[in-house]
Amino acid sequence: MIQTKELTRTFGRNVAVDHLTLEVAEGEIFGLLGPNGAGKTTTVRMLTCLIAPTTGEASIAGLRVGRDDMEIRRNVGILTESPGLYDKLSAYDNLDFYARLYGVADPAAQVEKYLTMLGLWERRNETAVTFSKGMKQKLAIARALIHEPKVLFLDEPTSALDPEAAKIVRDFIGELKGQGRTIFLCTHNLDEAQRLCDRIGVLKTRLIAVDTPANLERRLFGRRLLVRLRRVTPEMINAVHALDQVTEVEEKDGRLTISAPDPEAVTPLVVRRLVQLGADVLQVNELEHGLEETYLSLMKEAA
Ligand SMILES: Nc1ncnc2c1ncn2[C@@H]1O[C@H](COP(=O)(O)OP(=O)(O)OP(=O)(O)O)[C@@H](O)[C@H]1O
Ligand SMILES: [Mg+2]
Repeated sequence: MIQTKELTRTFGRNVAVDHLTLEVAEGEIFGLLGPNGAGKTTTVRMLTCLIAPTTGEASIAGLRVGRDDMEIRRNVGILTESPGLYDKLSAYDNLDFYARLYGVADPAAQVEKYLTMLGLWERRNETAVTFSKGMKQKLAIARALIHEPKVLFLDEPTSALDPEAAKIVRDFIGELKGQGRTIFLCTHNLDEAQRLCDRIGVLKTRLIAVDTPANLERRLFGRRLLVRLRRVTPEMINAVHALDQVTEVEEKDGRLTISAPDPEAVTPLVVRRLVQLGADVLQVNELEHGLEETYLSLMKEAA
């Protein structure tokens, strides 16, 4: 649904996005993760035809950026870093205005649909200026969706929100998932990326990595098994180490951390061997690093 090839944007001498090559499938929630100034917003602005790429190519739903810009604008919705609503217009009129701008067939039905979906129907006649940040953000997302775009771009949808408002917005994005819409989400929030996104691209001017959250972790750290025993003997450590698929064993406070490419295959062997040696096995599970550790490690590598 989204394709870029060597997409590059410079501002003067400053390279903001450097040869970005990427594909996002239809229906996918794709997260673009990266520090301040990484080029996330610049990428979104190129893909939504707000600024022109310096070199390289991009297309949305088969439409070419730089050639089919009008058509692309009709097919994408965008939530920018600041919601930019009409403060003096009511929630209803804010949406109605955009619905008409986009030539939506039945504006009233569309406006009602989204105000209801976001829990704002009761407050439809209040002006946007009276809304809390979270409500404004929801209204801005509704506005981005009013013409039922194929692709929704969300640039930091929760970054200015308190935890409660962020959760409401995040849950709503989660609800959009599985409705067939492609979502391109820029975020700093690792937890958000992990929870919502099918795949994550890590950007720091260049694309450093792209994969599912789980695969990113594995690629960096390999897979590891944690086995907690009542008592560990050197013999047990050696025996586990001697198993074919085990690449590394570390011991600390009665816990063995075992590196193995295929934990499902190696777990029964490890447990059997340990029990043979008289071990009391208290706990066995696969070790997870979480996206934060993965992300920080990627940033270090890229530095
Ligand atoms: N209009 C502009 N003129 C000059 N430089 C720009 C412009 N827009 C962006 N840049 C530069 O391009 C780089 C990438 O900026 P961009 O806004 O895309 O980053 P970002 O990943 O969205 O960051 P943040 O997380 O802070 O929103 C930065 O160095 C920025 O200063
Ligand atoms: Mg940005």
